Amino acid sequence: MQSRHLIDLSDLSVNEWEDITRLACDIGANIDSYYGACRGKILATLFYEPSTRTQMSFQTAMLRLGGRIIGFDNPSNSSVAKGESLKDTIRVVSGYSDIIAMRHPAAGSAMAASLYSRVPIINAGDGGHLHPTQTLTDLVTLRKEKGTFSGLCIGLCGDLKNGRTVHSLIKATAGFPDNRFILISTPSLGVPLYIKDYLSAMGAPWLEVDSLADAMPLLDVLYMTRIQKERFASENEYINQRGVYILDSYKMSLAKKDLIVLHPLPRVDEITVEVDDDKRAKYFEQTEYGLYARMALIMRMLEGTSKQLPIVPRGTETECSNPECITHRESYVPHTFRKSGDILVCNYCEERTRFD
Ligand code: NCD
Repeated sequence: MQSRHLIDLSDLSVNEWEDITRLACDIGANIDSYYGACRGKILATLFYEPSTRTQMSFQTAMLRLGGRIIGFDNPSNSSVAKGESLKDTIRVVSGYSDIIAMRHPAAGSAMAASLYSRVPIINAGDGGHLHPTQTLTDLVTLRKEKGTFSGLCIGLCGDLKNGRTVHSLIKATAGFPDNRFILISTPSLGVPLYIKDYLSAMGAPWLEVDSLADAMPLLDVLYMTRIQKERFASENEYINQRGVYILDSYKMSLAKKDLIVLHPLPRVDEITVEVDDDKRAKYFEQTEYGLYARMALIMRMLEGTSKQLPIVPRGTETECSNPECITHRESYVPHTFRKSGDILVCNYCEERTRFD
């Protein structure tokens, strides 16, 4: 692979995604023949936030490849509870393992971790920012269930502001020809500005709407998401947004016969259980494809890696304006930005700050 780490899907070329999704499909068809592909290798899973599917599918993936696993799923049982920095934890664990999958509540945390790691870092979710391995899962699902990544009308519904899976999926699919996006949310839970800018820069048509029922007949793919309770400042703000979008049998009756419904899960109340029996509901199949996607990814990322410590770049005095950015939690992380016109874009969380 071109890049050592998987922080954002843009770390992979389109050819590499194609290769990984194709390999994932082959693994799905011949899983036993891949046993031993990572014999002797160790995966560390560092989960600073709750997870069921992502963590277990990473662990199962490594076990099914014949490797072994270490890690924590509750930072209060590790030295993090004693105040250990992300930098120190990563430096130590990257001396024990061959590859690290991490999930952390701060945006940009995986990118920050990669500055201190001797081994590849996989971003398994960095706050409300990105979740590229869910997107690989979603791409494998599209390949299996639609046979294409192109020419699709993709509806994304729910918490588009805080849903990191939404951001990664849009970034991945906007680059394929003739995809169109319908962004279905309340005004306060719309996609961040940087995602809209990205869609426009890629020339992908997009539309923001607030009615799921109106959008249903137009869609080839519906990506439902949970309202991300843990990212709201108060319980009241969450309660105001909860239950606005519910996919039920009536709304399914408005949709195309070959629609597919995806959801990264966990589901709360945004899809009624009766929809599970509809042939077009593919969210449980999606979880299985996630295992194959992660097996393929681990195999490719372990090819030809060296255990070099990277050189940490020098930072600037300028601060990122996003309070959720890792640079505000771990003060030693160098502040680095890229320029886009008269805007500074934070290299960790992609927040835009105007400079004079
Ligand atoms: C998602 C996540 O953690 O962002 N879940 C997952 O990884 N399958 C979606 C969510 O929590 O709503």
